[in-house]
Formats: sequence, C-alpha cells, structure tokens
Amino acid sequence: MNLQEACFLGALVGLGLVVDMLVRRRNRQPAPPGPPGLPIIGNLRDMPTESSWEKYHAWCKEYNSDIIELNVLGRPLVILDTIEAVNELLDKRSAIYSNRPRMPMVTELMGWDFNIGTMPYGSTILSLTRHPTVLQAVVPGKYLVDTFPILKHVPDWMPFATFKKVARENSGVEQEDGGAGSDNTVATLAGFVFAMLSNPEAQAQAQSEIDSVIPNGDLPTFEDKDSLPYVTALVMEVFRCSISSPIGGPHVLQEDDVYKRYRLKAGSIVFANIWAIFHDEVTYPHPFSFKPERFLKGGKLNPVQEIYTVFGFGRRICPGRYMAFSTIWIAVASMLATFNISKVVDKDGRAIEPVLKYGNSSSCLPAPFECAITPRRPDVERTIVMASTVN
Ligand code: HEM
Repeated sequence: MNLQEACFLGALVGLGLVVDMLVRRRNRQPAPPGPPGLPIIGNLRDMPTESSWEKYHAWCKEYNSDIIELNVLGRPLVILDTIEAVNELLDKRSAIYSNRPRMPMVTELMGWDFNIGTMPYGSTILSLTRHPTVLQAVVPGKYLVDTFPILKHVPDWMPFATFKKVARENSGVEQEDGGAGSDNTVATLAGFVFAMLSNPEAQAQAQSEIDSVIPNGDLPTFEDKDSLPYVTALVMEVFRCSISSPIGGPHVLQEDDVYKRYRLKAGSIVFANIWAIFHDEVTYPHPFSFKPERFLKGGKLNPVQEIYTVFGFGRRICPGRYMAFSTIWIAVASMLATFNISKVVDKDGRAIEPVLKYGNSSSCLPAPFECAITPRRPDVERTIVMASTVN
C-alpha cells in the first residue's frame, strides 16, 4: 500500500467513525416529553374525549415543551404547540412530514380511499371531498382497527365490532352530501354568528364601517374589501376564535428525524395544535376575548401572524383556503350589512346566554344555539328580498 492509498483508507475509516458516532448520538436522543403510558396500550386511556387541543396544550405547558409525544397502542403521536415548531417541521421539512396515516376505518371500511385528505402524498387526486364522520374517524385512538388492521376481518357480530356498523353506515356518503371543506365553512360561519351574540359593540362598529362605504343599504362586493378593514379584521378574529380544525390534519413522518434534542421516529403521526397557536397570550393578549382591532394598526390591516395558518401546513395545506376565506368574508360582510344578530330574549325579558359546545372530531361544528337574526332597516329588507329572488 502506498502513502496515497493509506491516506485514502485512513480518511474512509475516519468518516465511518464519524458517521457511526452521529448515528449512535441520534439513537441516544430522547423522545419528546409526554405523560407516561401503560405497557402495550400506551396513553390510550389518557386520550381526551373532548376538546383534545386544550388537553394537548395543557400537557405542553406541564412539560414546558413546544413538542410532546404520546403513544397510542405503540404508534407515536406527536403534538406541536407553537408556530416555530410547526414552521420548522411541517413547513421547512415538509418533504418528510406530508404523508397521511393508513386509516383502514376511513379508507378501506368506509370506502373513502378517493379522498385527497386521507391519501398518501403523491397519490392521484380523484375527488375533493370531506365529511364529519370521516373527520371523527381520523381522531387518534378512535378506532382500534386503525392500530390493528387485522381487525377489519372480524365478523360483524363480535361485541367490539361496532366500528363495522359505523363504517357501513358511512360508506359512500359523499355522493349525497357535502363538498370539500363545507363543514369547516359552515362551522366558521356558525362561529361568526356566535361571536356577534356576545360582542354587540364589534358588530355595531363593523356595521357603521359598512354604512360609511355603502350608504344606500346595498350588499357589499369584493371591490369594497379594501375600504372595509374592520370587517376583514373581524373575519380574521372569527377564524382565530372559532377554529374549525383545531388540530389540523394528521401528518405522518416518513423517516427518523431530530427536533431540538428530541428523536422523532418514522411513522409518528404529527399534529399541529392550531388552536394553541392562535390562543398564545404573547401573540394574542387576552386570547379568549373577541377583539378584531388586534389585526389593525392605525386603521389599516396589520395581522401579527399569517391567518392562513388555520388552513394547515406544508404540502398538505388546504387547497381551498383562498376560496374559503373569500366565501366567509362575503357572507359575513353581507350578513352584517343586512341583519342584526342578537341574543334571544325569554318571556321575562331576560337574554338567553348561548353556550358554545364542540365534540372531539377534528372539525368543530358547534352544537345548535339560539339567536335572533332580524333585518336592520326597511331599505335593507328590500336588498334581502332582491338578493333572495335573484338566487
Ligand atoms: C373555513 C374553511 C376551511 C378550513 C378552516 C380548512 C382547513 C383545512 C385544514 C386544517 C386542512 C388540513 C391541512 C393539513 O393537514 O395541514 C385542510 C385540508 C383540506 N382542505 Fe380545507 N379548509 C376549509 C375549506 C376548504 C374548502 C372550501 C376546500 C375546497 C374547495 C377545502 C379542501 C381541502 C382539501 C382537499 C384538503 C386535503 C388536502 C391534503 O390532504 O393534501 N377546504 N383544510
């Protein structure tokens, strides 16, 4: 062996040692913190049954971490609690964080394998449909069959096979019901009506802005948008307060990764806690108060954060986001221009306080609540009649 060959060999061995050291170091890195689980079932029994996003956020605070890991029957479930963590992993590293979990309950038993929201990254897109039962079914740990796909073969009469009945009842529902994102759009509009009940001063301010731009009781158009910054800020505040997908969609990590000092395993299901991001006290002081003015500065729009964050991240970001925002903007502006939204009064003249209740599907459709929606003035009554005749 000559000197050149010896140097080459030495460099190769050195490189091998460095790689080995890095691999060992990576394997030594701990998993993100999280509540301790039981053998085999992991945290299955800890999984929140309602408003899971609040519990996930509370755990992040308890462990003083912007990332936590739970384990559901052996499958790591990672929750990201801050915009920094989400941007770093789901946006910057989206090449490896863009798969969807295999969900036999949704795709194979309910027959939703055509649905873009459940397709693995890179599949051919055939349809753009979503549905509340499907969103219920993607909630981690909801159906055992997603963890043990073999269960899809058990006979229907077995005591724990109720998931097969749910799947049968919901297979193929897309033909008769709903378009892409319609649940989210309806949920956000319901959130707007709810917000108006408890915030009459915000409603009055938006209406006076509309009246100053469109004085004759006509409906606003998109051309008026730049002249209605308070209305746009109010719409943003509605998106912030009534997040219809509080934990977004599941992103599956395709290969082992490291974030901060934590090791994340390939196959982990990663969720962004969008609700926590939009209720962060530093970015949004008094996060539980409805304040459209937090999106304004000197009377002009000045969002502290990108509102499109409510539509998810990376390669899986909602493709309907611009359409959804515009749909909600025009619906809100038209309703404010024409109606007063107020609490219902009982027979003793007392206002009935509405209660906002959500389930634990990954899409939040508020339970029905009472409200009074009345035309604002005689001239807008004419506009309402004309608009309903045209449509
Ligand atoms: C207020 C209305 C809406 C909200 C808040 C919303 C929110 C979301 C969120 C959070 C996701 C998951 C993103 C992720 O995994 O990171 C998503 C996915 C999706 N949304 Fe929307 N959405 C809305 C309306 C719409 C509309 C109007 C459409 C279609 C016209 C639509 C089509 C889709 C589709 C097809 C996906 C799946 C994308 C994929 O998996 O690659 N959405 N949406």
